[in-house]
Amino acid sequence: VSATRSYHEKVLDHYSRPRNVGTLKGDDVGSGLVGAPACGDVMKINIRVDPKTNTISDVKFKTFGCGSAIASSSYLTELVKGMTLEEASRVKNTHIAQELKLPPVKLHCSMLAEDGIKAAIADYYTKNPKAQPTDLSGT
Ligand code: FES
Ligand code: FES
Repeated sequence: VSATRSYHEKVLDHYSRPRNVGTLKGDDVGSGLVGAPACGDVMKINIRVDPKTNTISDVKFKTFGCGSAIASSSYLTELVKGMTLEEASRVKNTHIAQELKLPPVKLHCSMLAEDGIKAAIADYYTKNPKAQPTDLSGT
């Protein structure tokens, strides 16, 4: 009990009832697989994109890692569903960490979620080059 007491209830909620666990498949799916060098934990984020609006219509995750990483990815999936790709690419790990009240030593767990959504978006753009906004093409 004392081990869990230091964790904010939102972490425990997402950890014990993770949202949107799973995998998506298809040409309209971007997949990001990222790892945390600090601990070796791994997170996979899948996004399904509505090509008409460039919004994330569905999102799933699989995380092999600590409770904070699972909670971060679960919270991330709720956050980015319905966002445009551009909005989702601006999600910061500090926002996730703040929302879940992660202690400083667990900051890298939320970084995994930021890296994961960015990697999923990049993968979607690789598969669907026309979807990429021209103003992001590297000027
Ligand atoms: Fe990653 Fe503990 S080091 S779960
Ligand atoms: Fe490494 Fe949480 S301890 S992701």
